[in-house]
Amino acid sequence: MLQPKLRWTGDRDSGADQAKKSITGSMGFVDASEIVPVLREAGYADAFAKAFGNGVEPVTPENYAKSLEAYQGTLLTPAAFDRYLAGDGDALDARQKRGLSLFLSIGCADCHDGALLGGRSFSKFGIEKPYWEATGSKGRDGGIFETSQDERDRDRFRVAMLRNIAKTAPYFHDGSVAGLDAAIRVMAAVQLGATLDEAEVADLAAFLASLTGEVPAPFSAPDQVP
Ligand code: HEC
Repeated sequence: MLQPKLRWTGDRDSGADQAKKSITGSMGFVDASEIVPVLREAGYADAFAKAFGNGVEPVTPENYAKSLEAYQGTLLTPAAFDRYLAGDGDALDARQKRGLSLFLSIGCADCHDGALLGGRSFSKFGIEKPYWEATGSKGRDGGIFETSQDERDRDRFRVAMLRNIAKTAPYFHDGSVAGLDAAIRVMAAVQLGATLDEAEVADLAAFLASLTGEVPAPFSAPDQVP
């Protein structure tokens, strides 16, 4: 919810926008109002009346979207890196500190910046060479080009945020890379034209693991789909 634009082409302006449009997205309903009986059946009518009731019908797709946005806004995951930034010099170990230095010095942070280490800008994926040659992607997605049809947007994607990145494999917009070490190598080669040795990759991976936060209290994982 801290990202100004959502999804890899940045075509959703807010959490509520994303929630509302996903009702009728490719895996959703035909009509957004079909969410209303589902919410009623799931027992949300009273809670919605409390939160939104003002003489008007509270169970609506718009209020569903606002609720999801508000809930997701609670899912913040403070991590060791935040404790380090707040002044606790021991919050990162020596390897993580080396990884952080490298992250800054070779230019990862030029794109992956701010509180989320990314998520607030767009960049071409494939500055030094075509991304699909490095990722082994089966298809070639055009990024923002697919919606804008402007050649300057070809292969431009949202710079992924890196919070909890050690927990969110597989990597890149198409999930083409299975492991974090491999994703780091792809980024170095494709975005920076750099080849990293084993120790450098391990240092960067260790630093990125310091972005894994505590699971927030109001979150419970859905049952795993087999
Ligand atoms: C020029 C901008 C740029 C630079 C420099 C850059 N990245 Fe990225 N990074 C991106 C973009 C854009 C994506 C999203 C690509 C996609 O969605 O397919 C990304 C994605 C990633 C991902 C996968 C995120 C996910 O959720 O799947 C990781 C990990 C990553 N970068 C780490 C790094 C590291 C480490 C470096 C430095 C070696 C680096 N990046 C340098 C722009 C950059």
